[in-house]
Amino acid sequence: LKNVTIGVFDSGLGGLTVLKELLLKLPLHNYIYLGDTARLPYGSKSPDTIKRYLDQSIVFLKSKNVDAIVVACNSASSVIQNDINYGLPIFGVIDPSAKVAVENSFNERVAIIATRTTVKQKSYVKSIQKLNPLISIYQQACPLLVPLVEEGLIDDPITNLILYRYINPLLQVKPDCLILGCTHYPLLLNPIRKVVGNELLIISSAESVIKDVEKNFPTPKLSNQDKIKTPQIYMTDESYMFENIYKTLFPEKEVPAVEIVNFL
Ligand code: DGL
Repeated sequence: LKNVTIGVFDSGLGGLTVLKELLLKLPLHNYIYLGDTARLPYGSKSPDTIKRYLDQSIVFLKSKNVDAIVVACNSASSVIQNDINYGLPIFGVIDPSAKVAVENSFNERVAIIATRTTVKQKSYVKSIQKLNPLISIYQQACPLLVPLVEEGLIDDPITNLILYRYINPLLQVKPDCLILGCTHYPLLLNPIRKVVGNELLIISSAESVIKDVEKNFPTPKLSNQDKIKTPQIYMTDESYMFENIYKTLFPEKEVPAVEIVNFL
């Protein structure tokens, strides 16, 4: 067991849902978060552009001496190239959630909500069908959700209405589970629950990726959650909603300072 420094990368603030799980489940590691807020959203950009942004962010995090990187963004995870040696372990969020979905798909029907890029790239479709080609997959791109979360409209009638519009058609196929294929979406868990009811299994990429990281970098458990370390936070531009979202995720914690970096 050894403490390491893990870089956590997202296009913006959504990856903080992954950082939260990492801090709770693997609290003895050090964490450096990078949000590419200057170029958010990734979810509507082309794979080539996202690949370029991801490469730059990996270079930045490596300059901070991280031992591994969690790509806490589905849109960016969709363009990780398995045949490239990035020089350190890179954990994407797609395969871990796909695995949980396959394990729980008793009627072989999986529903996914995600950004446009993730849907268009068919990242989950490929990952799930590699494990079980018989599973039918129903995807819905939800381009309005990331801006709603970044604006802090989490508990809001407008958000409820939009979620209903996106998710209700998926429910008609009676899926076994719903994958939240974007790291912003766990912040909408309560309103999503209102639409899908209490029975449906909701799989969040924030939770699924932890197992992969833990397997490679196990740490002892921390008995006292108060000892959770403060992560170092970098953004590529000012983010007015950072404080708000950080407080939503970590109500007990002091909001860390954000350092703006300029490697673009
Ligand atoms: N959080 C990112 C994801 O998981 C999406 C945000 C964006 O579109 O930039 O896909």
